[in-house]
Amino acid sequence: MRILLTGSAGQLGRHLCHRLTGHDLCSADLPGHDLCRPGLIDTLVTDTIDVVINAAALTDVDRCEREPELAQRINADIPRDLARACTRHGARLIHVSTDHVFAGDAQRPYDEDDAPAPVNAYGQSKCAGETAVRSLCANHVILRTAWLYAAGGHGFLPAILRQGRDANATVRVVDDQSGSPTSVAVVGDLITALLDHPFRGLLHGACTPGATRFEFAREVFALWSLPAQLISCRTAEMPPRPAPRPTDTRLISRHLPIAGLPSPVTWREALRHFYNHHPDA
Ligand SMILES: NC(=O)c1ccc[n+]([C@@H]2O[C@H](COP(=O)([O-])OP(=O)(O)OC[C@H]3O[C@@H](n4cnc5c(N)ncnc54)[C@H](OP(=O)(O)O)[C@@H]3O)[C@@H](O)[C@H]2O)c1
Repeated sequence: MRILLTGSAGQLGRHLCHRLTGHDLCSADLPGHDLCRPGLIDTLVTDTIDVVINAAALTDVDRCEREPELAQRINADIPRDLARACTRHGARLIHVSTDHVFAGDAQRPYDEDDAPAPVNAYGQSKCAGETAVRSLCANHVILRTAWLYAAGGHGFLPAILRQGRDANATVRVVDDQSGSPTSVAVVGDLITALLDHPFRGLLHGACTPGATRFEFAREVFALWSLPAQLISCRTAEMPPRPAPRPTDTRLISRHLPIAGLPSPVTWREALRHFYNHHPDA
């Protein structure tokens, strides 16, 4: 299969580059391929491409809040242009999206039938990207995942590992934000399964059953035997950040079992698997 992978230098993209070696893979990312550059997508998506996997995004939630027009260009206009190009050339589009499309106030996990209502610019831009993909490319999969982590990645897990290794540190982690911590390997499993499956539409692909930031950090501390002191706190006790965070965006999937696609493992299993493969992360 000839696959165009965008965002190939990102957390998920790097994993997919290793994972999809059995395919004819073309990859695109900054700085060589700025997908916002007019005309570039039309040169990359041609009749020879069977599948486009869009893992390119502006994922810095606070930067999106400060630069909403940039967020719109990357998280909404790129998928829109990819969707148009895929339709023109008969390619399938697998577009990766996020739990941040939800308001986070439902006090239960969100499934694919729940209505998006993003509370920040990142979520709004990703929501707009989903809408464009849905309306412009019939042969699409929108795969929402959450709280991604990867070896050499960025975000919550590396921050906890860095701080936790300082024996003199006290690491404060909020216990009132919940989500679905998910390794890139889990998303890689799903995308690999999707390549051999005709599914079209919306999927939630995240580990279950959900955790608070503190619960996830506590498991990280235990697995890596981190020497720092870990204490829980409330979001209101932490310094304010530019972008509001949705409180509880745990994801579950109704569509995966109906489609006969494999359900992701629990977040504890995924984290242990990650630890076994990357004890020095
Ligand atoms: N990270 C998470 O916790 C999380 C959670 C849920 C869903 N997701 C979704 O999962 C997908 C992958 O996330 P990730 O964590 O792998 O993101 P990532 O590490 O930030 O990777 C995204 C990649 O896209 C690139 N990119 C940005 N603008 C581009 C442009 N104009 N042209 C070409 N490439 C561009 C980025 O380059 P630069 O780094 O140079 O900007 C980066 O290499 C995204 O759709 C994201 O919304 C992520």
